[in-house]
Amino acid sequence: MTTAVDTVRSARETPYEGPLLDVRDLHVEFATRDGVAKAVNGVSYSVSAGETLAVLGESGSGKSVTAQAIMGILDMPPARIPRGEIRFRGQDMLKMGKEERRKVRGRRIAMIFQDALSSLNPVLSVGFQLGEMFRAHQGASRKEARDKAIELMERVRIPAARQRVNDYPHQFSGGMRQRIM
Ligand SMILES: Nc1ncnc2c1ncn2[C@@H]1O[C@H](COP(=O)(O)OP(=O)(O)OP(=O)(O)O)[C@@H](O)[C@H]1O
Ligand SMILES: [Mg+2]
Repeated sequence: MTTAVDTVRSARETPYEGPLLDVRDLHVEFATRDGVAKAVNGVSYSVSAGETLAVLGESGSGKSVTAQAIMGILDMPPARIPRGEIRFRGQDMLKMGKEERRKVRGRRIAMIFQDALSSLNPVLSVGFQLGEMFRAHQGASRKEARDKAIELMERVRIPAARQRVNDYPHQFSGGMRQRIM
């Protein structure tokens, strides 16, 4: 059985020796009515293949904004990245074109949002939303995408995945929604 992880693995190009993700001296600020809010001030970390990194910090210290900057999903403006590098397999994502970056984001890097309910679309079934990545990134048919969605839901232990694939986000528990994300 081919899983999403296997598919991504087989899509992997040349092996890469350095850290997968290398964040260097990242600064993020927001233009607000009251002036410039400095949300991230010189964060550096790196993560190698197979490694798990936990980032701890008080509320509002910039953990999520750092993750959003890595994903390239900050609205700019009001956000601005005045300094820093975000290297994925050695390539500075801040200097990539939009399309190239979208590919990295779709296939190689993903984010589980802090608030899973607000990041799932309330008017689309979870199966449709899960299937979307296979349709968009792998050209899967609707049927294939649905089967993949069920398979992924089973992998994160959503009971009765096949029956629930057409359910909407509000019909799942908070933990289930996070696993679906
Ligand atoms: N779109 C935005 N516009 C202005 N300021 C923002 C924006 N997004 C985040 N911030 C500010 O950036 C700072 C860092 O926020 P962030 O969400 O990264 O905190 P966090 O470390 O993830 O906190 P928590 O542990 O509560 O999730 C906060 O002061 C927040 O108010
Ligand atoms: Mg956060």
